[in-house]
Amino acid sequence: MPRVIFHTATTLNGFLADDEHSLEWLFATPGGEGGDSDFTEFLAGVGVLVQGSSTYDWVVEHEDLVAHPEKWPQYYGDRPTYVFSNRDRRGILGADVRFVRGDVRDSWSEIRDAAGDRDIWIVGGGDLAGQFDDAGLLDEIRVSIAPALLPSGMPLLPRRIGADRLHLESVRQSGQFAQLVYSVRA
Ligand SMILES: NC(=O)c1ccc[n+]([C@@H]2O[C@H](COP(=O)([O-])OP(=O)(O)OC[C@H]3O[C@@H](n4cnc5c(N)ncnc54)[C@H](OP(=O)(O)O)[C@@H]3O)[C@@H](O)[C@H]2O)c1
Repeated sequence: MPRVIFHTATTLNGFLADDEHSLEWLFATPGGEGGDSDFTEFLAGVGVLVQGSSTYDWVVEHEDLVAHPEKWPQYYGDRPTYVFSNRDRRGILGADVRFVRGDVRDSWSEIRDAAGDRDIWIVGGGDLAGQFDDAGLLDEIRVSIAPALLPSGMPLLPRRIGADRLHLESVRQSGQFAQLVYSVRA
């Protein structure tokens, strides 16, 4: 059974992006562009990506993927990517992007089967990770906390989940980031 892992960078006060969906705070942090060896190892174990439409739109716009679809594999390889959206959207030429909508349980068997024996990475946003948790499908939360704070923005995981369900598995420093891994109990 693949594990469902929400893996993200976050500000110290729990935001994934600012109100305008900017990740300037992340890129201003040394190492914030990625490439960490832990992340490379994590990605090797991932069979499928899942993301909400704002996260997808950010990558498409930031990398100008409509004009340069060849950049998609630099991010995600050839893994299938499920994008949740209620709107009709364009895919990326040559990328295995699958648009779904509605209750995550309705797409679960398809997502699980596509992952095979590898894990499912919830890329973001926080509410989508929350929807997987609501469905009892979230197994792990991995956060890389940057030395940055924002007054407001896109929330890390807007749910009430306590110590009865979260267990701290590891703590690691990677440059300016604190990397915490929590297992999630149903
Ligand atoms: N710090 C990091 O490492 C990191 C990681 C990931 C994301 N981010 C950023 O964080 C922000 C997250 O944005 P966000 O909070 O708006 O979350 P998001 O999950 O990326 O996008 C939310 C949108 O996805 C669609 N959606 C979500 N669940 C759905 C469902 N069950 N069925 C159909 N559609 C669904 C809806 O839009 P529509 O129906 O209108 O399409 C919803 O408004 C983005 O700016 C992203 O770039 C940062």
